[in-house]
Amino acid sequence: MNLVGPALDNLRFVHGLEAQSASNGCGTEALMADDDDFFSERADQSEVKARIVTKYFTTWARIITSRNAKVGYIDLFCGPGRYEDGSASTPLMLLSEALNIPALMDGLVSFFNDADEKHTNTLQNEIAKLPNISDLRYKPQIQVGTIDRSAADFFEKTKLIPTLSFIDPFGYKGLSRSLIQAIIKDWASECIFFFNYSRINAGVSNDKVLNHMQALFGAENLTALQKKLKAHHVRREPTIVAHLVSAMKDAGAKFVLPFKFKSNSDARTTHYLIFVTKHQTGYEIMKEIMAAESSHLDQGVPSFEHSSTRARLSGTLFPRALNDLEDDLVVKFKGITISTKDIYHQHNVDTPYVKRNYRAALGNLERDGRIKTDKPNRRADSFGDSIRCTFPTVPAVRK
Ligand SMILES: C[S@@+](CC[C@H](N)C(=O)[O-])C[C@H]1O[C@@H](n2cnc3c(N)ncnc32)[C@H](O)[C@@H]1O
Repeated sequence: MNLVGPALDNLRFVHGLEAQSASNGCGTEALMADDDDFFSERADQSEVKARIVTKYFTTWARIITSRNAKVGYIDLFCGPGRYEDGSASTPLMLLSEALNIPALMDGLVSFFNDADEKHTNTLQNEIAKLPNISDLRYKPQIQVGTIDRSAADFFEKTKLIPTLSFIDPFGYKGLSRSLIQAIIKDWASECIFFFNYSRINAGVSNDKVLNHMQALFGAENLTALQKKLKAHHVRREPTIVAHLVSAMKDAGAKFVLPFKFKSNSDARTTHYLIFVTKHQTGYEIMKEIMAAESSHLDQGVPSFEHSSTRARLSGTLFPRALNDLEDDLVVKFKGITISTKDIYHQHNVDTPYVKRNYRAALGNLERDGRIKTDKPNRRADSFGDSIRCTFPTVPAVRK
């Protein structure tokens, strides 16, 4: 039985994640081990995943509620909320943190869905035990439903309030480009999904799961990917991830930020957590959060990956290290004077660099005489947003 339609229809009528033009204060703008073992104990990876989602949601929700009365959180594959070892998973971690934010007591509209009724029942009971849960104006909605094509159809037709959606299936069933397109289409609506690299890596060239792969990558994009993967010396992982990023951009995302998870035993990539947004501010907030969760740094540049053992640096998505950044900046900004803040905004997208890397790189460039600043006599090692940097017309080379 397909429960998605009715389940989500309840959502629409009971507590209104659907945007209402007049009431939202903003003019017209008003969801591996063996799957069976997944919930036995909280894996290291699951904890990091849940922490990233929770930190992002709470940071983003504070910003949104300063402009909009309501803010939504949708978890389409929510699970039971607690592992058998007693540790909390994403829904409970997120709600617990949200309950500490006064603006969310009146503004948070949350929806949790899972195909397994045992999971939703457990989650319901666990949520009911959270301290102060009854203070939420909008009671969390918990429903049983199988996410399939009809979920995308539903969200396509439904205008959402500013909503962060989390999509965390076991494999790839239910994860589709059209679903992501539908849940990010409205103002300030964003998505985080857990991409099972091992399974999708196995699936991209398997005709038996062609429909799922086409749903995720798009038919043309998948054909192009399959063609590239047949070539010799192709770097399989970055190629697959690049095509996934491209699928997200086709779905309306302007910014896509992947965070890699590696197996502890052999350091092979198992998953990616992928953040999808239309807004640079969201991208930059998530970047700082993912940077802080990175397992290692190179010259202070975060790896954007989690592994307990230091993995070899092959197959990374980004170029590395501060020296590359310094050499890049003197070329990109040659002949102009520009603030630190603008340098960061204009350069950081699709790179591994976070704000502190720009401060460090610009400090090094100034010390090496490769740029000049308008505040040369400030406190040592400080590099504020407003400092203006002048880059020579002919980039000075590294000594
Ligand atoms: C990886 S677990 C989710 C874990 C959860 N996000 C957390 O952080 O604890 C995947 C969940 O999706 C559910 N599920 C599997 N297929 C589904 C589908 N098609 N629609 C909805 N839920 C599904 C499973 O019952 C399971 O609880």
